[in-house]
Amino acid sequence: MKVLIVFDHPRRDSFCGAVLDQLISGLSSAGHHVELADLRAEGFDPRLTPGDEPDWKDAHQVYSDAVLAEQARMSRSDALAFVFPVWWWSFPATTKGWIDRVWNHGWAYGARKLPHRKALLLGTAGASAEHYARRGADEAMRVQIARGMMEYCGIPETQLHLLFGALGQGSVRQQHLATARSLGESFFVE
Ligand SMILES: Cc1cc2nc3c(=O)[nH]c(=O)nc-3n(C[C@H](O)[C@H](O)[C@H](O)COP(=O)(O)O)c2cc1C
Repeated sequence: MKVLIVFDHPRRDSFCGAVLDQLISGLSSAGHHVELADLRAEGFDPRLTPGDEPDWKDAHQVYSDAVLAEQARMSRSDALAFVFPVWWWSFPATTKGWIDRVWNHGWAYGARKLPHRKALLLGTAGASAEHYARRGADEAMRVQIARGMMEYCGIPETQLHLLFGALGQGSVRQQHLATARSLGESFFVE
């Protein structure tokens, strides 16, 4: 499969960046083709401009050049992966804005839906699994992101993996890196 990875972290040398490296390594060893969208390094502007606001009456609206370029990049892939730190129970704002602008009306929902067959979400999380379970935070993220965005836009199979306790060092992080690699090898196999 051709997999577009959307990476959203201020630093490529972060723990999140190490998760990305392992995901790429797993994908490559399984023979997948990888394209990387490093949104911050590329300077993607997440703010929805007036020109990219949906015209609800126009099913064939042409969006800005910046959005067309992102849509072209998405069109080259069969599946999507997201690697991000959980910030306030969600993606960082750059990924949210990328979805706001690029997954636009008439292209990702409405007259047309996304053709991507799978989406894998890897979020590093500072808190523990117990912290999330007690507050329903993981379920809230699944409803918001997996159901509200991926499924709504037509992607039939999505998995969200939260890599808990990511501020700790040592074996927890090593386990998360191994998980990222193993998901890269297994999740996109058809
Ligand atoms: C603005 C901000 C908001 C955060 N919100 C959460 C949160 O809601 N839940 C959580 O588990 N961790 C939260 N964290 C902790 C990050 O998830 C953690 O710093 C990150 O996953 C560690 O990976 P990194 O070293 O690659 O940045 C937050 C961190 C920041 C900076």
